[in-house]
Amino acid sequence: MKANSFLYTGALILMMLIFMQACVHEAPPFPPGGGIPTQTDKCDPDSVYFKNDILPLLGSNCAMPGCHDAITAAEGVRLDSYLALFQSDVVTPGDPSESDLWEVINETDTKKRMPLDKSPLTPEQKSLILKWIQQGARNNACTADCDSTIFTFSAGVKPILDRNCVGCHKTGSASAGVLLESYATVQPLALNGKLYGVSSHQTGFKQMPYGGARMSDCNINVIKKWIDAGAPNN
Ligand code: HEC
Repeated sequence: MKANSFLYTGALILMMLIFMQACVHEAPPFPPGGGIPTQTDKCDPDSVYFKNDILPLLGSNCAMPGCHDAITAAEGVRLDSYLALFQSDVVTPGDPSESDLWEVINETDTKKRMPLDKSPLTPEQKSLILKWIQQGARNNACTADCDSTIFTFSAGVKPILDRNCVGCHKTGSASAGVLLESYATVQPLALNGKLYGVSSHQTGFKQMPYGGARMSDCNINVIKKWIDAGAPNN
């Protein structure tokens, strides 16, 4: 009995050591700036911002249900937040060639290229990711990306939907059968209250973007003003 419990204790300690070793070895790189979000009032046109540019792109192309959201975490990879990216160890700040995120979107083998079984990211989207990694992969944001005095469909609403929603709501990958690519399919949702309800996270509505943070008040305001004006095709 005694010898047995010695054996167990020994085995337990050994397992703990191996486990600790594994943890030390696999520790993800510490996120730049400790991952603490920073925000500037002006958007520098030469900078790429995580919150404005990268998160919406990942949210609508990668962190969808069944893929790299918090629930599914396909292959152990979560791309639904800044910290999740670093916990999943897919970005090496300043070094795209050492960043799995950059490699998988450029994979030449279409069976491995991300987003899996979908059309590749556009050159503009890829260049945003490249630049963001090169610029240090910071958890940055800027506030001046939205002007609530511009609330026509084409100049106000459409760019917001393109950036935050269309990745999950387009022909070929229409979550819940909802298409948000064009005026024709957006207008009915504007008039029946759903567009505003899901975007502003009103009670009784699903919260969109799915799995992501609520859009800025300014973005939501643009949508609201356009709807209040009768959701015209302007
Ligand atoms: C990451 C993918 C993703 C993004 C980004 C996204 N959606 Fe969705 N959307 C979904 C999924 C998944 C559902 C179905 C959710 C469910 O049934 O629980 C859905 C459902 C909806 C619905 C139907 C809700 C209902 O009750 O019928 C609307 C409307 C909608 N989304 C609008 C939007 C808008 C507007 C945006 C941008 C602000 C957006 N979505 C961004 C994935 C997404």
